[in-house]
Amino acid sequence: MTAADYLPPRLSLTALREASAGCRACPLWRTGTQTVFGEGRTRARLFLVGEQPGDREDELGRPFVGPAGRLLDEALAEAGIEREDAYLSNVVKHFKWQPRGKRRIHQKPNASEIAACRPWVEAELAVISPRILVCLGATAAQALLGRGVRVTRDRGRALESTFAPVAFATVHPSSILRAPDDESRRRERELFVDDLRVVAAALER
Ligand code: URA
Ligand code: SF4
Repeated sequence: MTAADYLPPRLSLTALREASAGCRACPLWRTGTQTVFGEGRTRARLFLVGEQPGDREDELGRPFVGPAGRLLDEALAEAGIEREDAYLSNVVKHFKWQPRGKRRIHQKPNASEIAACRPWVEAELAVISPRILVCLGATAAQALLGRGVRVTRDRGRALESTFAPVAFATVHPSSILRAPDDESRRRERELFVDDLRVVAAALER
C-alpha cells in the first residue's frame, strides 16, 4: 500500500489535506500525533521540501515551525525570500521518533516509508506546479531528484527535475543545528544562505 491509495478523486490542496489526515499507508501514522501536511499559497512559485515533521511540527500540525523552521525562516529572509511566497512541505508526513528519557528523538524514515508517503508530496507538486523546487537535505533530494543526487556535490546549482523547470538541492537546516561547534555552525549557515541566494536569483529571472 502507498499514499496513492488515499488520494482524493480530484486534486486540490484542501482535498489532499483532508485525505492525508486519514492516511495509514505506512506504520508511521501510529508514531506521529497527526499528519503534517504542507502549507503555503496555491500559487507559490517556490516549493521547499524537507524530510519529515519534527517534534514541534508533530504537536502543532504545521511544517517547519520548530528550531529548524526558525533557522530556515531567518536564512530565507537573509537571502531575500519571503516565507509567505513559498510552499513548504515534507516527503514524509508523520513524525518518526524514539524515546530518550522524556524527549522524542528524531529517526530517519526508511526507504519503504518514503516510497509509501511520496504520492502526497507529488500531488502537492502537481497542484502547485512551482517554478522552482528546493530539496532540503539528502532524503528529499534523493526521493524527488533521484538516487544519484549528492547534496555536498550538487548543492547550489540548477538540477533537472520532472516536478519543476528548475530544481535545487541544499542541506537540511537541522544539519546546521547539529554542527559540532559555533564556528562550523556559522560557516554551514553561511553556505546555506549562499545556496538560497542562488535560488532567489533564479526566482528573479
Ligand atoms: N524538519 C523537516 O524536515 N521538516 C519539518 O517540517 C521540520 C523539521
Ligand atoms: Fe501516510 Fe505518510 Fe503518514 Fe505513512 S507517513 S501514514 S504514508 S501520511
